[in-house]
Amino acid sequence: MPLSISHTRAETQSQVSQWRRAGQRIALVPTMGNLHRGHFALVERARQVADRVIATVFVNPTQFGPDEDFNTYPRTLDTDATGLAEAGCDLLYAPSIADMYPYGEPRCWVEVPALSDILCGAFRPGHFRGVATVVARLFLHTQPDVAVFGEKDFQQLMVIRYMTLDLGFPTEIVGMPTVREDNGLAMSSRNQYLTPKERQRAGLIYRLLRDTEAAVHRGDALERTLAGGLRTLVAAGFSPDYFEARDAESLGPVSDGDLVLLVAARLGKARLIDNWVVRRP
Ligand code: PAF
Repeated sequence: MPLSISHTRAETQSQVSQWRRAGQRIALVPTMGNLHRGHFALVERARQVADRVIATVFVNPTQFGPDEDFNTYPRTLDTDATGLAEAGCDLLYAPSIADMYPYGEPRCWVEVPALSDILCGAFRPGHFRGVATVVARLFLHTQPDVAVFGEKDFQQLMVIRYMTLDLGFPTEIVGMPTVREDNGLAMSSRNQYLTPKERQRAGLIYRLLRDTEAAVHRGDALERTLAGGLRTLVAAGFSPDYFEARDAESLGPVSDGDLVLLVAARLGKARLIDNWVVRRP
């Protein structure tokens, strides 16, 4: 099946209705475009769990802060479409801002307060409110049985899981392991802001996560280990926002269960985030 492209909610919903009438299961892969191997892995996973795959490309203004890169965020719809067709996507839905926000600034927001002001939320006020609001709208436009998101955005994935449960969307949320470059750098559309040298150096984040995992297993003092990690990042030229450990189920304080190490740091023009779940015996 060749890839179809829709730019409107009406066209998308008419296609979705046809598939539903034929009893087909629909998967959604929401993205902001400038797609890379990590995104195509999400589409391939979606393909395995549904009959039809919709990928959305929408650079969502409500999740960007006033000083962030909304205007310069790379928009590459033609190459995205080629990659999506190769990955087995059926429909690319690339709505306009007017389609997503027909009344301008939303009069109705979706918020997950317990998760929105910590970690990245503390450094990007309003970001997760914008994400939850647009994902809720994308769910309404596409009515997916299943939606696939990358685990690289660990906090985002948890916000979406909470939102889906609380609002009762009939959509199963699937998380996909992070796809990494050879040096361990998590794939991200924003990696293209890095120079070739910075891209090499950025592999440090992954090494730090794995070294910290080893320290947790050895029983080293966690606070001291994290503080040492922050110093390592600074010494290598990063400006870290945070390097923290949290309970992997709730993002609350570390308990006896699995924990997740989460890091956000700026390098050159890029803000990089990554995480690693440490399983406890
Ligand atoms: O992860 C992203 O690309 C975006 O935050 C998402 C989920 C597509 C919402 O705009």
